[in-house]
Amino acid sequence: MRAGPVGVDAVPMCGDAVPTRMNADQRHTLFLRWLAPDGAGLDAIDALRVEHHVMTAVLAAMEAEAERMLGGASLRPDFWRNVIDCNGNFVHRCHRTKEESLLVPALVANGILAERQVQAVHREHVAGGELTQSLCEGIGEADWEKVLRLVAIYAHLMRPHMQREEEGLFALAATLPMPVRERLRADCVAVEQQVLGADGRARFAAMARGLAEQAGVAHALTLTPGA
Ligand SMILES: [Fe+2]
Ligand SMILES: [Fe+2]
Repeated sequence: MRAGPVGVDAVPMCGDAVPTRMNADQRHTLFLRWLAPDGAGLDAIDALRVEHHVMTAVLAAMEAEAERMLGGASLRPDFWRNVIDCNGNFVHRCHRTKEESLLVPALVANGILAERQVQAVHREHVAGGELTQSLCEGIGEADWEKVLRLVAIYAHLMRPHMQREEEGLFALAATLPMPVRERLRADCVAVEQQVLGADGRARFAAMARGLAEQAGVAHALTLTPGA
């Protein structure tokens, strides 16, 4: 799973002209840098972009598994427990904390983000956390219909949420002064170490890959350049 950085010069760093939507090769290159033992000095915003890539793969796996259940397959508790682990710990305890407790305050302090936008991000994060809690309950109750409904609502919330962040918060972060961005990177690394531990990236990337493979959507976590 771990691999060294390849072709890093081909990927623009945050602060250069970062495209709001990356192609598969750019995502793959950033993904490998993100997985390198020291994170290859990845900028905080680029790390958040890679996390969205992992989250998107998990969403695709959730939807494919829901589709499988809709076709009569049984609810697989181990699969859904890993979904809850990813969405609860990787997404809501770690990724969300970086955005809401570090990135957003940095944008506000530098006069880049308005209070209205801050509240919008917060509301969507709260909704995502509540849906994850409800999904956890649905899985515990083995209520597959509830799980299906919650997966649809969660995906409907999270995909546009991530797109808005990439085109809004992440793009705006490119205008932060360099010392602020360097501090943001260090603070995000510290949060990640505290919440996920030193092997968090490798562990959750492997979990996302496992979910995608089990649900038959391995392509969602692109690991092959040009794919
Ligand atoms: Fe977010
Ligand atoms: Fe995000």
